[in-house]
Amino acid sequence: MEPHTADGAAIEFRDVSYLLPAGQQILSHLNLQVLRGETLILLGRSGSGKTTTLKLVNRLLSPSSGEVCVNGFSIKNGDVIRLRRGLGYVIQDVGLFPHFNVERNIALVPRLEGWPEERVQGRVRELLELVGLEEHIASRYPHQLSGGQRQRVGVARALAADPAILLMDEPFGALDPLTRDELQREFLALQRRLSKTVVFVTHDLREALRLGSRIALLEAGRVVTVLSPPEFLRSQNPLAAAYARAFANGPNSAAY
Ligand SMILES: Nc1ncnc2c1ncn2[C@@H]1O[C@H](COP(=O)(O)OP(=O)(O)OP(=O)(O)O)[C@@H](O)[C@H]1O
Ligand SMILES: [Mg+2]
Repeated sequence: MEPHTADGAAIEFRDVSYLLPAGQQILSHLNLQVLRGETLILLGRSGSGKTTTLKLVNRLLSPSSGEVCVNGFSIKNGDVIRLRRGLGYVIQDVGLFPHFNVERNIALVPRLEGWPEERVQGRVRELLELVGLEEHIASRYPHQLSGGQRQRVGVARALAADPAILLMDEPFGALDPLTRDELQREFLALQRRLSKTVVFVTHDLREALRLGSRIALLEAGRVVTVLSPPEFLRSQNPLAAAYARAFANGPNSAAY
């Protein structure tokens, strides 16, 4: 089968809707492209459908209608294991396994893929360094880590098998402003080095402006508009303008 996605799109939503079994519409006619190597932000208030959108990419959920394509192919009928191998997922509220120590959490996917143990160990060390954690952290359990450390482990785990695409669901959500700032800076440095395709969920416009190449604004399960950060700040779209106003007026542009 020939790929039928526009050139350069790593992920494409084609008229995707998602309804709950009881019929409630969560996403309506989503049309969205994520270009290769870009960081596309999904910005929207709580309940607007951001997490649902991400879950459609790794097939934790399936569209009620429409199609999701990854690397040019509809993911509907493909092998889900193979699909997920190419995707790193940083889950909202981290989602580390509490009964696994840091090392086992990070090494999860490489071990599932049958990497030789030496290579797994090397990769874990490399990743800890990459996300700014000391090696002795490896033997700790998630409850023995600070929130910021847990977030870093979550990012390391998502990067473990070097996926081309990263899905990040509010990865820096529940952090103090300084730690958050630090992780955002490190994300930018990492992104310059690794050039992944990233879909990054946030409800914080400051974070969106800082990290995103484009921002898709979601409201009530619809994409309102997709804009670059400078376009977003100039936008006449009422919702984008409301975000920009709140951002300009807020003392430290507090989270939305
Ligand atoms: N399994 C479910 N059963 C019922 N409602 C659901 C279910 N999953 C999601 N929803 C509803 O779908 C809507 C979108 O949820 P989603 O988790 O995608 O929002 P979100 O934008 O990620 O919000 P947040 O910023 O709070 O994480 C919400 O109204 C939510 O209550
Ligand atoms: Mg969410």
